[in-house]
Amino acid sequence: MSGHTTLTVDLGERSYPIEIGRGLRHRPELFAPAVRGGQVVIVSNETVAPLYLEELRRTLSAWECHEVILPDGERFKTLETVSQVFDALLARRCERSVTLVALGGGVIGDITGFAAACYQRGVPFIQVPTTLLAQVDSSVGGKTGVNHPLGKNMIGAFHQPNAVIIDTETLGTLELRQLRAGLAEVIKYGLIRDPGFFSWLELNCAALLERDDDLLAEAIARSCRNKAAVVADDEREAGQRALLNLGHTFGHAIETAVGYGEWLHGEAVAVGTALAADLSVRLGWLQEGERQRILRLLAASGLPLAPPAAIAADEMLRLMALDKKVSAGQLRLVLLRSIGQAVVSADYASALLQETLLTACSGRQG
Ligand code: NAD
Ligand code: GLY
Repeated sequence: MSGHTTLTVDLGERSYPIEIGRGLRHRPELFAPAVRGGQVVIVSNETVAPLYLEELRRTLSAWECHEVILPDGERFKTLETVSQVFDALLARRCERSVTLVALGGGVIGDITGFAAACYQRGVPFIQVPTTLLAQVDSSVGGKTGVNHPLGKNMIGAFHQPNAVIIDTETLGTLELRQLRAGLAEVIKYGLIRDPGFFSWLELNCAALLERDDDLLAEAIARSCRNKAAVVADDEREAGQRALLNLGHTFGHAIETAVGYGEWLHGEAVAVGTALAADLSVRLGWLQEGERQRILRLLAASGLPLAPPAAIAADEMLRLMALDKKVSAGQLRLVLLRSIGQAVVSADYASALLQETLLTACSGRQG
């Protein structure tokens, strides 16, 4: 695949495009339909701004353009940082018609989207995601928010962007560890609903890590197509959207336990995916051969398969109970019936979950 792909997240009047291609950050005509009013404010961080801010400012030069540069890191995904965005918007007398532009990874996207959801009760925003993880997942679907010391992503709002503009060229400056973490979310789509994509990833994983441009663009487009379909069917996560959280209940527990930012989100999700597969086998739902394929693909992507040594099984369980999918005190997990078919279920013996956690926590390397 080469060139420029446009997908749509179909949400009636709130539908929006996902533009995918090389060099799209230089294309004002892609931004224009999504900008409301005369002011734009680019929100970025200290790492991404030196790389891409000036170019984006040039692209947006038809509008009154300001910027807010935040500190970099998951540990800054807090209400205090969102407050810094509000301070900057108010100091610049930004009006209700201001459009925010999130330039960065998932942290910047989630913070900016949340600020946009709250500022003057809601202003438009555009996602310009620059990590693989943000390009395939967090920029699409309108989940925005910040962490709380007691739980990840616990404060937030649904607020859809007006456009997602994915410039695949920006992946050229991304650290390999971050690229690998993004692959965890790519693999997720294969596992929950697209078995053909999973097989494609088994064939192309090495080339993706070598940053083959066309293959990356194809992986991003196929991921976004899957995500757009899920979001269009279930915007507010009344049902199927919860499948996108495969591995996340385990993963969020890891992120909360080790401290936000020590483990990358995608790394924690990879371990969570391996644990979800383990529990699914113990339940007799997933074949062991399929679990082995999953572990092989995660390992080939350079992702961890076991929780960090610092966490005990009972601590994981305690933190998992804080998950947003807990309903009437029951912890619902995303589990696998096969590669390409996932279910959200509380219908498992808790002893089997404990076995999964104890086995993983005793067999790990550190
Ligand atoms: P991140 O935003 O922290 O970015 C990772 C690192 O890469 C940061 O240091 C960043 O500054 C740097 N970076 C970004 N783009 C770069 C580039 N092109 N070149 C060089 N460096 C670059 O992490 P992430 O993995 O993008 O996102 C993780 C966050 O996304 C988590 O907070 C997670 O909860 C959230 N998330 C949200 C959703 C959602 O639906 N809203 C979905 C998945 C994940
Ligand atoms: N990343 C999970 C979701 O968007 O629902």
